Amino acid sequence: MLFLLFLLPISGLVTEAFFESHCQDGQSKSCTNGCQRGLERYFNGVANRVLPGHGYRNLTVASPVLCGRECLIDDRCFSFHYSEGKMRCELNGATASRYPMDLTEMDGIFYYGPEEPKLVQLLASGDNTGFPSLTDCWYHTHASAATECSKTGQQLCLHAQLDHASGEKYPATPLSWYADTDSLAVLTETGVTYHDLPLTAPSPGLCCSLPYVYRDPVRTASLYAVADRAGQASGCSDQGAHPCTLAELKEAYDNGYRSSTWLYFATPNRDASVADGGCGSRTGDECYQDTIANTPRPAAQSWVYCCYA
Ligand SMILES: *[C@@H]1O[C@H](CO)[C@@H](O)[C@H](O)[C@H]1NC(C)=O
Repeated sequence: MLFLLFLLPISGLVTEAFFESHCQDGQSKSCTNGCQRGLERYFNGVANRVLPGHGYRNLTVASPVLCGRECLIDDRCFSFHYSEGKMRCELNGATASRYPMDLTEMDGIFYYGPEEPKLVQLLASGDNTGFPSLTDCWYHTHASAATECSKTGQQLCLHAQLDHASGEKYPATPLSWYADTDSLAVLTETGVTYHDLPLTAPSPGLCCSLPYVYRDPVRTASLYAVADRAGQASGCSDQGAHPCTLAELKEAYDNGYRSSTWLYFATPNRDASVADGGCGSRTGDECYQDTIANTPRPAAQSWVYCCYA
């Protein structure tokens, strides 16, 4: 039986018989590390693929079924690698559906994860740009799901991104957090459906990367005192932005933005200008990357350079 499984590019590995329910809580698994998760009963494998960077333990066991058992009884384990020749079982702290961009080809190693076969197949087939990332842990609140997404520089997916993923045949998901705070989304193969929040059950989050679009800095509508950092930040947030960092001002310069006025920016008690000709006569720590002049002698009051994320 196992021999046959190895010949298949995608193989289901049923480890339900070994499942220990000490960590089980209704629909989800509540674990010692505080992470709740979907109830995993089986793993699906894909040949010659690895998820690098998430392994935390290597064991030598005789079969992938035994490796799956080790994974199921370890709260930290979300997926594993098995290399048949070496009988090496590597436990991973994350899944390919959380890191769809990372799944890489490597001869002789199987990736086994809780994803359904269609998803593993899709992820293994190559171009995963634009696929949502499904969090491995399940959350009771929108805010905690959003925090998890931000760990990978992502945000909870927008409607349009879910529509796109569904159009790209991303397979069905559980009820999941997405950008709106008052409903949950389910991707199905025929589209996205939206549901009321459940009263108690936790849900995974669907994280998406927002395509980065450069926008010129703007200045705050009002003047602020040099020490009024909170006012400066809130002046920017009124514009949906934040005080620019030097790196952001440099990026603006590189994008052709010019402003020779001296304004506050993210660094306290300094002012900066994005003048043509870069730093002019300023050097050393008054010249950021040969481009942005900035000084520790700001005016007592000024506007602020605000940048968009
Ligand atoms: C497990 O062994 C492989 C091969 O030696 C190695 O590449 C990998 O980093 C090891 N993983 C851990 C968690 O030590």
